[in-house]
Amino acid sequence: MTDWRTLPKTELHLHLEGAAPPDFIRTLAGEKGVDLSSIFDENGAYDWADFAAFLRTYEAACSVLQGPRDFKRLVEAVLATSSAHGVIYTEIFLAPSFCGGGDKGAWAEYLAAMVEGAENARASTGIETRFISTAVRHMGPEAAARDAQVTVDVPHPMLTGFGMGGEERHLTAADFARAFAIAGEAGLGLTSHAGEICGPESVGDTLDHLGVSRIGHGVRAIEDPDMVARLVDKGTVLEVNPGSNVALSVVDDWDSHPIAKLRDAGVKVTVSTDDPPYFHTDMVLEYEKLAEHFGWGLADFNAINRVAMEAAFCDEPTRQACL
Ligand code: HPA
Ligand code: ZN
Repeated sequence: MTDWRTLPKTELHLHLEGAAPPDFIRTLAGEKGVDLSSIFDENGAYDWADFAAFLRTYEAACSVLQGPRDFKRLVEAVLATSSAHGVIYTEIFLAPSFCGGGDKGAWAEYLAAMVEGAENARASTGIETRFISTAVRHMGPEAAARDAQVTVDVPHPMLTGFGMGGEERHLTAADFARAFAIAGEAGLGLTSHAGEICGPESVGDTLDHLGVSRIGHGVRAIEDPDMVARLVDKGTVLEVNPGSNVALSVVDDWDSHPIAKLRDAGVKVTVSTDDPPYFHTDMVLEYEKLAEHFGWGLADFNAINRVAMEAAFCDEPTRQACL
């Protein structure tokens, strides 16, 4: 079996809190005297049964991330892992809601700490990082607009995008148009989760109302040939997370994952890990599974990484350096 570890990779879809190793969260819980035993299974892994339970476990784990120093440590730990898996350029979702609850002064302190963590990682491993500020959909449109506003009010060259994750079944894309307009007018790159839990209509709504150039997941577009054609026409890039989709039962198994069909249809697909410890995955494992189930090899992965770098929310010199 080919060893994909050293292949230079670009990752566009990684949630900072969702990348926290269980031991990291357990240590913080111990330091803070918080009993989080209910979110871990008997093996010490994160415990959840379905998407809604995943989001609850995720937010419980976030509750012990308390202050800029915790987030700086987390950024350093996550980037060390990414770099060890061959990632040379990564975009990480941060959530102002978990970093001071949308307060501008607090967010500025958290962001400065996370930037410092990413600069330390770049100095020690060379990994290049950009941050995507992210609204949490089930916290509602007002919170999303507030998140967009604090993002715009505290600009930083390392923070280049705005996105939205969370419970996709909550409201419709149009309800979040104001948040995306605030971020888009400030020149941030835009992406939103859609077509993961909900079907192709969610992808269509997101394209109609949020002005995104990329979609997080988007894989359920495959259920509607017209939606696939629309993605091809627009050149919309999908941040596909196959292992996440298998773990959350968005698809039955690896063989039935639509990534190869979407790619063959001309959709721009990329590969990321989403929330790796939750879904028992990492970038090397994703590549191994794609090679095993779809016969992808070096030329395919190089092409996928080129698509990702071309869609990255970064400046041209950075893009050229990572291509
Ligand atoms: N989907 C939606 N929201 C999320 C996810 C996800 O996979 N991970 C963290 N927030
Ligand atoms: Zn995600």
